[in-house]
Amino acid sequence: MDQFSVAIVGGTGNLGSALALRLGAPGVKLIIGSRDAEKAKNAVATLAPKLRAGEMLGTTNQEAVKGADFVVIAVPYEGHAQMVGDLKGQLAGKIVIDTVVPLNKVKPFVPAAGSALQEAQQLLGSEAPVIGALHNISAVDLGDVDSPLGDVLVCGDDNAAKQKVMEIIQRIGANAYDGGPASNAYVIEGLTGVIISLNRKYKSKHGSIKITGIVNH
Ligand SMILES: NC(=O)c1ccc[n+]([C@@H]2O[C@H](COP(=O)([O-])OP(=O)(O)OC[C@H]3O[C@@H](n4cnc5c(N)ncnc54)[C@H](OP(=O)(O)O)[C@@H]3O)[C@@H](O)[C@H]2O)c1
Repeated sequence: MDQFSVAIVGGTGNLGSALALRLGAPGVKLIIGSRDAEKAKNAVATLAPKLRAGEMLGTTNQEAVKGADFVVIAVPYEGHAQMVGDLKGQLAGKIVIDTVVPLNKVKPFVPAAGSALQEAQQLLGSEAPVIGALHNISAVDLGDVDSPLGDVLVCGDDNAAKQKVMEIIQRIGANAYDGGPASNAYVIEGLTGVIISLNRKYKSKHGSIKITGIVNH
């Protein structure tokens, strides 16, 4: 994967903006999406001076998705189903990376579909594979491009798409592990609720996960 483009739906937010800075590298075209094109352009104006390399554009979520190979969904769970449904036509043929954690304020819950990932996959059907990733990484660490990152569990039912997403995760400086099928997503998504509790308890903004005991990684 030498040259590829990544659209970030909700790219004006904490996770999306931080991820954009990490992804900035030669050959990566980044498109920051927003419900409001002006907001996306303003986000790009703020982020661009901090971008080490690469190209970054800002536009509406709909336009952002059209020009991308990979699409990261980085909106709060409240807007997840509607956003994926609204973008369905444009998402066909792309690889969708779902970062969304179903949270009620800070409490995790399991949505009717089984997980946010499965909800997106049900909405998209066979038009686009949905791969879950980055749920357990702090946006604060992601945005500080020199800081070490925790491990990333990547899950989903399309193995070829999952492999490509794992390559992207490695590229941003984190260890990617195959976290299994989409049916594992609720555990990985829900773990973020535990990390939020840990951060609160221990007054941190950097809680994450580390996998141990896997030798052939
Ligand atoms: N923050 C983290 O550390 C972190 C870590 C792991 C996973 N996540 C997950 O990543 C996702 C984004 O988190 P975040 O902290 O970046 O959220 P955020 O900053 O609150 O929101 C991200 C962006 O989503 C858009 N948005 C807000 N409400 C929306 C709605 N109802 N419908 C559609 N779009 C909406 C907004 O963009 P526009 O107004 O420009 O459209 C906003 O800038 C969440 O699902 C979260 O669970 C976050």
